[in-house]
Amino acid sequence: MLKLQGKSIYLATLERADCRKLFEDNEYDFENPTDILYIGYSVEGADKWFEEIQAAQGKTHVRLGIFLNDGTVIGDIALQNIDNRNRSCSIGMGIQKLENRNRGYGKQAVSLILEYGFCNLGLERITAGTLDCNISAKKSLEKLGFVLEGRERKAIYFGGVRHDRLCYAMLAEEYNGKQH
Ligand SMILES: CC(C)(COP(=O)(O)OP(=O)(O)OC[C@H]1O[C@@H](n2cnc3c(N)ncnc32)[C@H](O)[C@@H]1OP(=O)(O)O)[C@@H](O)C(=O)NCCC(=O)NCCS
Repeated sequence: MLKLQGKSIYLATLERADCRKLFEDNEYDFENPTDILYIGYSVEGADKWFEEIQAAQGKTHVRLGIFLNDGTVIGDIALQNIDNRNRSCSIGMGIQKLENRNRGYGKQAVSLILEYGFCNLGLERITAGTLDCNISAKKSLEKLGFVLEGRERKAIYFGGVRHDRLCYAMLAEEYNGKQH
């Protein structure tokens, strides 16, 4: 089992029960919106997600749970759309409960998955995208050293409004140029 240890969280593979808990715990932050809005909890939906994770795991995705050191699962993070030819992928992540956000857990999780992607998988480029109105995601990515590469203007129709999507990336040479 893959386990990546941080200071106050660790990343590890998600079991079926973890997926159910994450679905159940999901809270939407209307101040920092994401374009995917899951409405309601269902055991079937969580189980379907678990099966999808297994099907792609180690192939096109590496998706791990974010766990507090006491074993409580609080979110998930993934290297997704892994392109082995170009050695690139994108990051997707979420921390389910609002009370667990802005406490430094996301930053630790991204740091761990970046190390895994660049140092273990040999990736050269890791991207991340977010709505321009998602301040938490923007701040987190910028503070971690992601470079803003572009803005897809009015790319996402969501909540009755067209939003710009911001495109960030980090290169292996930028990652390696920093102290970790
Ligand atoms: C985006 C998300 C993953 C960030 O994780 P997090 O645990 O809340 O972020 P952290 O507490 O690690 O914060 C990282 C940095 O960003 C800053 N930050 C985070 N949210 C912020 C906000 N709303 N306003 C200002 N700064 C903020 C923190 O102060 C911290 O800065 P520091 O490095 O100087 O200490 C999390 O908020 C989340 O799950 N949101 C919902 C899903 C989502 O938006 N996913 C991302 C789509 S790309």
